[in-house]
Amino acid sequence: MNQSKLHIVILAAGRGTRMRSSQPKVLQPLGGRPLLAHVLATARSLKPAATHVVIGHGADAVRARFADVSVNWVLQTEQRGTGHAVQQALPEIPDDARVLVLYGDVPLLTQDTLLTLIDVDGPALLSVVLPDPTGYGRIVRDEDGAVSAIVEHKDANPEQLAIDETNTGVLAARADRLKGWLSRVGSDNAQGEVYLTDVVGLAVEDGLTVEVVQATDPDEVAGVNDRRQLAAAERVLQRRAANALLDAGVTLIDPARFDQRGRMSVGEDVVIDVNVVFEGDVELGDGVEIGPNCVIRDARIGDGSVIHANTVIEDADIGPSCQIGPFARLRPGTVLVGDNRIGNFVETKKATLDQGAKAGHLAYLGDASIGKRVNVSAGVITCNYDGANKHRTVVGDDAFLGTDSQLVAPVTIGARAYIAAGSTITRNAPDDALTICRARGQKTIPGWRKPVKDSGK
Ligand code: UD1
Ligand code: CA
Repeated sequence: MNQSKLHIVILAAGRGTRMRSSQPKVLQPLGGRPLLAHVLATARSLKPAATHVVIGHGADAVRARFADVSVNWVLQTEQRGTGHAVQQALPEIPDDARVLVLYGDVPLLTQDTLLTLIDVDGPALLSVVLPDPTGYGRIVRDEDGAVSAIVEHKDANPEQLAIDETNTGVLAARADRLKGWLSRVGSDNAQGEVYLTDVVGLAVEDGLTVEVVQATDPDEVAGVNDRRQLAAAERVLQRRAANALLDAGVTLIDPARFDQRGRMSVGEDVVIDVNVVFEGDVELGDGVEIGPNCVIRDARIGDGSVIHANTVIEDADIGPSCQIGPFARLRPGTVLVGDNRIGNFVETKKATLDQGAKAGHLAYLGDASIGKRVNVSAGVITCNYDGANKHRTVVGDDAFLGTDSQLVAPVTIGARAYIAAGSTITRNAPDDALTICRARGQKTIPGWRKPVKDSGK
């Protein structure tokens, strides 16, 4: 169809009581983004002329969360049913538009399924056969198999309750027709609501055929009404993300123990072990290996780099052939140029390590620029904060920072400089020389006795 005539209406005004949350339901996170963000993304993929989102409960919070998204917000002050909700948006929609109704709490629908639905000329709805149809509206068909009505669970007779083909709620029809039908829909039903589903019966009364598209995958049309369903939807979403990576050639040791809460791009022969969480934008080069239990957010990891177990990386740019972890923490602003080694209990922040620089264990490198092939020994600390301001540490190429040295910033260590173990460096250290600064020379006290334990009087 001509999508310039497509108007999408997303219903998101309901309270979501069963979530037992102070947040509006459509703001609950799925794959790290609000439920509504998923529906909006699917809507956008259909390139509609406009998207109208009907909000009510928590309207301000929802609008604020999506302040940067261009949609038409429609306020439904009282939740008088799905038909009433659609009615609130219709005055803003031209008569000859095709209206597609989606739900803020049905986040897993795919573009393909919806395209089938909007390609139909007349009124169309999306149904699904469920092993347990409890709670859903039932698709009632006549003896020829044509749809005659939708009956809500609470209004259904025993014969209708036995029907296992249910209404997903998703529906498409021309705007002028919807306007006409909804003006005729009453609220004389078990819930006292204006049901959108009643337009189906009215369309049939008007002599139209209502086309039914059956969803083949019940997961795709699953609604999120409580935390169990939210958790189930999360698994479906993650399985889709895992499958996309497997199809792209990634080895996932266990696709069921993998979480992606953002976007990923991957090279060839990437291996990801269990329980790794990816957030934000993550780019993995060829041959990257990620060990178990890592958290990686907004990072680029270069070809052949290996991230060992229990490493946390955030907002970092990691070059090729690096070895990181286990138990490393790379904080925002970390840049590893390449061939770097960051070992256990090393923390970096706003730190650049040039080609081949290494920090094997127990170090803090903050606001620092570390030259090529520098060796950062265990216990090296950049003292970057004076209690008020942050200062930079600059270390020249091929310098050696001895064990347990503290570099009090601002300070510069020269190229090929040697800093003796245990030094507190407060002034610049020159190139090519050993700099040592210890409180006192080493002495041995003869006859010294070990303290004895109190006998507990
Ligand atoms: C609806 C359908 C039912 C279908 C089921 C699928 C109707 C009458 N029934 O039932 O046939 O099987 O979905 O999940 O449509 N909403 C508003 N304003 C309102 C009422 C609802 O915005 O006044 C929104 C809700 O936030 C929710 C959606 O519409 O996102 C569905 O409403 P809900 O009350 O959950 O409808 P169901 O009873 O589940
Ligand atoms: Ca519902």
